[in-house]
Amino acid sequence: MALHVVEHPLLQHKIGLLREHGISTKKFRELVSEVGNLLTYEATRQLPTETTTIKSWTGEDLDVQEIKGKKITLVPILRAGLGMLDGVMQLLPAAKISVVGLQRNEETLEPVSYFEKLVGNLESRRALVIDPMLATGGSLIATIDLLKKSGCKNITAIVLVAAPEGVAAVEKAHPDVDVYTAALDSHLNEQGYIVPGLGDAGDKIFGTQ
Ligand code: PRP
Ligand code: URA
Repeated sequence: MALHVVEHPLLQHKIGLLREHGISTKKFRELVSEVGNLLTYEATRQLPTETTTIKSWTGEDLDVQEIKGKKITLVPILRAGLGMLDGVMQLLPAAKISVVGLQRNEETLEPVSYFEKLVGNLESRRALVIDPMLATGGSLIATIDLLKKSGCKNITAIVLVAAPEGVAAVEKAHPDVDVYTAALDSHLNEQGYIVPGLGDAGDKIFGTQ
C-alpha cells in the first residue's frame, strides 16, 4: 500500500477544527464533507486522460482531455463514510455508489458486517473507498477484501485521519492499494481510538454521541 499524507494548509486547518472539543454536529458534518472533497481532488490526480475532439465555442474542432477508461464506484463504509459522500460526489457526480455496512465490535475491535450492496461490473471499475477513520484497519481491510472478491482490481481509499497501526495492517494485507489521508496521527489508545484523532466520527456525524 502506498500512503499519501496530503499536506495542504486548507486540510491542516480543517482537521484542526474537527479536533475541537464540543464541536457541533453541523460544523463537524460540514468539515468532514469539505475534507472529503479536498482529498478526492488529490486522490484523483493520477486518473489517466485521453484526447477527444469537440466542436468548440468558435465552431472549430478542438482537442480536449477527458478521463479515460474505467468508471468509478464510490464505496462509503457505513455509517461514518456517508458523511464524506456529498463532498466526494461534488467532484465525481456521475459515480455509482457501492455501500458497505460495517460496525466495529467495541471489545474485539473486529468489524462486523451488516449490509452490502455493490454495483455491477466491478471488474471494469475503479473503487474509491471513503471512511473518515483508519484505526486498526479492520474495516478498510474487510471492505477491500469484499471488493477484490467481487472482481475489483483498482482500489483507492480516502480517510480523514489514519493511525500508524491501521496503515501497517492495510499495507500488509493489501500492498496494491493507495490510501490518501489528511493526517497521520500518533497511535491508538486502549479502546482502539485514534490519538489525537477525532473521537467517534460516526456518532459526531449522526449526532448519536
Ligand atoms: C468507525 C470508522 C471506521 C472504523 C475504523 O466506524 O468510521 O469504519 O470505525 O476502525 P478500524 O480501522 O479499527 O476498523 P464504526 O465501526 O464506529 O461504525 P460507525 O461508522 O457506524 O460509527
Ligand atoms: N472509529 C472512530 O470513529 N474513531 C476512532 O478513533 C476509531 C474508530
